[in-house]
Amino acid sequence: MAGATGTERGELSLQDTSLLTDSMVHEVHAGLARTQKTLSPKYFYDKKGSELFDAITMAPEYYPARTEVQLLRTHSDELAELLGKNSYLFELGSGSSVKIRLLLEALRPRRYIPMDISRDHLLAAAARLARDYPWLEINSVHIDYSRPWDMPDFGPGRYNVFFPGSSIGNFEPHAALALLRKVAMLGGVGGGLLIGVDLKKDVSVLEAAYNDAQGVTARFNLNILSHINQRLGANFEPRNFAHRAIYNETHGRIEMHLACLRDHGVRMQGRAYEFATGETIHTENSYKYTIAEFHALAAQAALFPVKVWTDSKALFSMHYLVRR
Ligand code: AVI
Repeated sequence: MAGATGTERGELSLQDTSLLTDSMVHEVHAGLARTQKTLSPKYFYDKKGSELFDAITMAPEYYPARTEVQLLRTHSDELAELLGKNSYLFELGSGSSVKIRLLLEALRPRRYIPMDISRDHLLAAAARLARDYPWLEINSVHIDYSRPWDMPDFGPGRYNVFFPGSSIGNFEPHAALALLRKVAMLGGVGGGLLIGVDLKKDVSVLEAAYNDAQGVTARFNLNILSHINQRLGANFEPRNFAHRAIYNETHGRIEMHLACLRDHGVRMQGRAYEFATGETIHTENSYKYTIAEFHALAAQAALFPVKVWTDSKALFSMHYLVRR
């Protein structure tokens, strides 16, 4: 198995966890040193952030999660037919591994390989799955899949990748293409990708989804600062910032920012950063695609559409693509 070492039972390691922290230090310093300060959205997902994300998916305004679940439920038989039984089934950014449950009985995969950056969340989810599906072979992979990684190769067989939730939207288009190419290599010719992609739509619907009335998204956004404090010993004071989410029409993306409420300084590992009232830290982009835009992107990775499903309000799309 290329680059993979076994650690805990059922867990594969494709990257050294201490290197994940080293690269975090480097990336956070680099992001804060920019004129437009930035933090990568992957740092939302410590244990608390993963829990807050799960809470976002329950917010009435956040339509992507429930719409995607509805699509998976409605079309599970057809999906099972297309993906085939007995495949190696990977899930990128598996989080709580909730959506895959809608497919497991129908797909009866040879092996399920959940991959996620939050190790605690990943292992807890795998333990729950192992309890509920005793027949299922699981190899959890703790990974930052936005960085280089070796592809696990389990030998001959059919490979399918499940990438739900429109997480592809959190990648810049060039990085999204690089990831799709990686997925295409993982599956080889005939390998499949089942991917959820959020659609372009009315701005008011989009902005409401990222500004839920209960303030869960705001807490999720602010939690990135607590995560950095805890992992890297910074002294961010979350009360000095406020959540902002707006749709940028030009780029076709929701942008999340943390707006600074008062002039102050922050220290992190011997370096000081100044924050001025009104300036922002850009924490996330969430790109939205039309179906045609997404097909054009996937085609550049040699992934071709077999079928696309959408809901009656055309809020969200689910694509099955195959590598030719
Ligand atoms: C994980 N990802 C697809 C979510 C999104 O909609 O871009 C993350 C999120 N950010 C705010 N709310 C949800």
